[in-house]
Amino acid sequence: MSLEVIILAAGQGSRMKSRLPKVLHPVAGKPLLEHVVATAGSLNPVAIHVVVGHGAEKVKNALSDYTLHWTSQTQRLGTGHAVSQVLPELNPDSTVLILYGDVPMIAGKTLSKLIGSATSAPALLTAQVGDSSGYGRIIRDENGELVAVVEEKDADAAQRQITEINTGIMAAPAADLFELLPRVQNNNSQGEYYLPDILSLAVAEGKTVSTCEAESELEILGVNDRIQLQQIEREVQRLQVEQLMREGVTMADAARVDIRGSLTCAADVSIDINVLFEGEVRLGNNVTIGPNCVLSNVSVGNGVCINAMSHLEGAEIGDNCTIGPFARLRPGTVLREGARIGNFVETKKSDIGAGSKVNHLSYIGDCDMGANVNIGAGTITCNYDGANKFKTEIGDGVFVGSNSTLVAPLDVGNRGFIGAGSTITKTVAEDELAIGRARQRNIRGWQRSRKEHNKD
Ligand code: UD1
Ligand code: CA
Repeated sequence: MSLEVIILAAGQGSRMKSRLPKVLHPVAGKPLLEHVVATAGSLNPVAIHVVVGHGAEKVKNALSDYTLHWTSQTQRLGTGHAVSQVLPELNPDSTVLILYGDVPMIAGKTLSKLIGSATSAPALLTAQVGDSSGYGRIIRDENGELVAVVEEKDADAAQRQITEINTGIMAAPAADLFELLPRVQNNNSQGEYYLPDILSLAVAEGKTVSTCEAESELEILGVNDRIQLQQIEREVQRLQVEQLMREGVTMADAARVDIRGSLTCAADVSIDINVLFEGEVRLGNNVTIGPNCVLSNVSVGNGVCINAMSHLEGAEIGDNCTIGPFARLRPGTVLREGARIGNFVETKKSDIGAGSKVNHLSYIGDCDMGANVNIGAGTITCNYDGANKFKTEIGDGVFVGSNSTLVAPLDVGNRGFIGAGSTITKTVAEDELAIGRARQRNIRGWQRSRKEHNKD
């Protein structure tokens, strides 16, 4: 039977106190809703329908990379009403899975089990919780079969004691939704059309509603405020980092590494404290990362050492390179094998050849650098004339003396040598020495000024 997924995401999330729709707040670097969409996608449904209301345009834009069917719910009249909005889109033969845009960590495995239980009647994902306040309670008969879900606001004192709760997540044959949803009434304390009411209607028709439980509490946690958002974030981070340690990564402190995206590590990677990974990061064998580094969309070869306080973004690092401390590698930086970038060096859109060194206090932008080049301290590639960007081409074995400015567009041939303190504006051919600075003048017998005596 084919699967269709409905994700409810119309709520405002007023407790977030945010102008951003709740489902766009990130966990592990991705919007809550994107986690749900990705998990839904892993089940190979024929369609994913998302019910949006509050901030619909922002939500649609943020998820524009996915193929989704958008349904708008202009008035929030309850979860049953929200699902009803999608009925005209559903194929009557499919099984329908209902998810929540603000319950991000639900696992595909749990959902497969739930879908498998919903072949001839609805099936509900329930959970046993320590504190059931706020949730709909599961009411069972003497045989232990589910008979109804009662919302907290409609529950009596005895029902409120029940610790088995409705996670909200449900699977049902589309035919049951077509038949039962139009019969749901809103005569309850909130005046809403409650989706779980279809369960008691199904039971009244002689159907058996089966229930499944999630494998972990994290899976069913929803986000209503920023405290819960942070709790989920910490738990997700803990699980990610533990998984990496199991795979052989050394972490100085599991609680002080955050991964907002995906981190792939080869053997014997070692990560010090306060390191942040964003986007897609790949680390080769024997990579060591010092404290307080940020790596964003970076691929790093084997044997690379990234020292403390370095910030790397959109860079490709070859084997055995050394970076930092205090290095900033900006997008388009490529370091070839054994290159060294030292402290207070910024690189951008530059290819640094094998074994080349930029060890101190330099800016290298829009530069193509050969192998075994030595760039002295304080060297600047002047790549911008206020309107356009230009390239600096540096051959193999070039030596650039300290405090030089290389005014692009510029070519320095192989083994070119630039004297310290030069401003270089013209091509330097192979093996040439270029010096572009005023000659030193020494003045004999020069008198220093003296302090005048104060006359008054
Ligand atoms: C709902 C369940 C409750 C369950 C709880 C789990 C109902 C009536 N109650 O309660 O049994 O224990 O979830 O967290 O279903 N939404 C819409 N349109 C609407 C109403 C809601 O899209 O008209 C969306 C919300 O954005 C949210 C989700 O549905 O993502 C749940 O709605 P919410 O109002 O939070 O339901 P609860 O009262 O928490
Ligand atoms: Ca809720």
